[in-house]
Amino acid sequence: MERASFRTGIIHSSTKNIAHRAARSGIQASAVAHGRRINREGMPNLFHFYQILTFTSEILTDDPKNNVSEYIYDKLDKNLHLLSDHPLGILKTVIQEYFARTGDNKPFTFYDNLAPVVSTYANFDSVLVPVDHISRSSNDTYYVNENTVLRCHTSAHQLELLKAGSRRFLVTGDVYRRDSIDATHFPVFHQMEGVCVFEPEDWKSRGISSLDLANSELKSTLEGLVRHLFGEIEMRWIDAYFPFTDPSYELEIFFNGEWLEVLGCGVMQSSILEAASLGDKRAWAFGLGLERLAMILFNIPDIRLFWTNDSRFSNQFKAGMFRAGGLGMRKFSSYSKFPPCYKDVSFWLAKDSTRFTENTLCELVRDVAGNLIEEVKLIDEFYSPKLDQTSNCFRFTYRSMERSLTDEEVNRLQEQVRHRLVSELEVTLR
Ligand code: PHE
Repeated sequence: MERASFRTGIIHSSTKNIAHRAARSGIQASAVAHGRRINREGMPNLFHFYQILTFTSEILTDDPKNNVSEYIYDKLDKNLHLLSDHPLGILKTVIQEYFARTGDNKPFTFYDNLAPVVSTYANFDSVLVPVDHISRSSNDTYYVNENTVLRCHTSAHQLELLKAGSRRFLVTGDVYRRDSIDATHFPVFHQMEGVCVFEPEDWKSRGISSLDLANSELKSTLEGLVRHLFGEIEMRWIDAYFPFTDPSYELEIFFNGEWLEVLGCGVMQSSILEAASLGDKRAWAFGLGLERLAMILFNIPDIRLFWTNDSRFSNQFKAGMFRAGGLGMRKFSSYSKFPPCYKDVSFWLAKDSTRFTENTLCELVRDVAGNLIEEVKLIDEFYSPKLDQTSNCFRFTYRSMERSLTDEEVNRLQEQVRHRLVSELEVTLR
């Protein structure tokens, strides 16, 4: 299934909340957000330590809207982008190095510590995401409660940083999206967001319109970034749609014989600037996913590897190792894979229930199997006119990155999944 993006505006049927919450509230945890900084309502104070994440009970609650699993909660303190010898940290630093030397004498400010728990206003409204947009559904986004989510993109920080006075900045952070399970999708990944604001004198002095200035600066800056990362490489601009930019583009590169999307960007909608009392200015913005780029640049075959503690992975990465395009850089060499274990499950979907969705199934499997689930794939679907019911068959691939799984262990996991499929997603096993 395609990751929910900000490109389309389709309304998606949302799922009901499924997780067991009974035992949750009141569980205390250590300060997961240690060291994260965020501004509160009083925008100017960006360096307040963020308190909300201190207790599990504030994230995993009984709120009817809450759909954060313990598996996801556990990821909130990992901050992979802050680890200097981790591929995500290495790539972040390389991108920051590029932005440290662009922009004449007006340097970019880097924000790496903004907390991922944000208001729905910041995540959606502040960047003009329509009320019926697919990304707002609880099938796609992790809600803490009606008004609070785990950010699903770093664009959630655009307006607050503009209001706080930042004019050129780069935000790096973990973002959360409910999604399918395979080698390139993980419900937590990392994004970098760039914003650059121009003053009237910037376009007047060059005798061009504000739009032309922002547009051309956007393109040349990002083409430079791609060359900084990939060396000389073929690229192309594709027209796109995002609610917060107009015009909007995606930048693609021709890599290993195919066109790959690298980032989304555009000229910021004027109303966002107006909301920050910057109505006389123009800006560009972009957002990129670090995992996707790191997988290409370092030759990392599975997105779960970013989360492994296996030294055979971590020993292969060191700050400063990066070379543009990978030339002269030792890329990741895969260690032997442990054998997969396949399990199929077939079931009838309940006629009058909206509980079952593929994302919700994946969420449930993740909750049971954690990193041991490699892929969840719909392999058969049919409708029986006689029963007026739809049947689905899913194949689960269980595999550990670190060891061989035993039959009993996998059977136990599968049993739990089957059980919860019935009790929480209201399906009938076949
Ligand atoms: N927020 C967008 C996404 O996550 C990316 C983006 C950022 C696009 C800024 C345009 C401008 O898909």
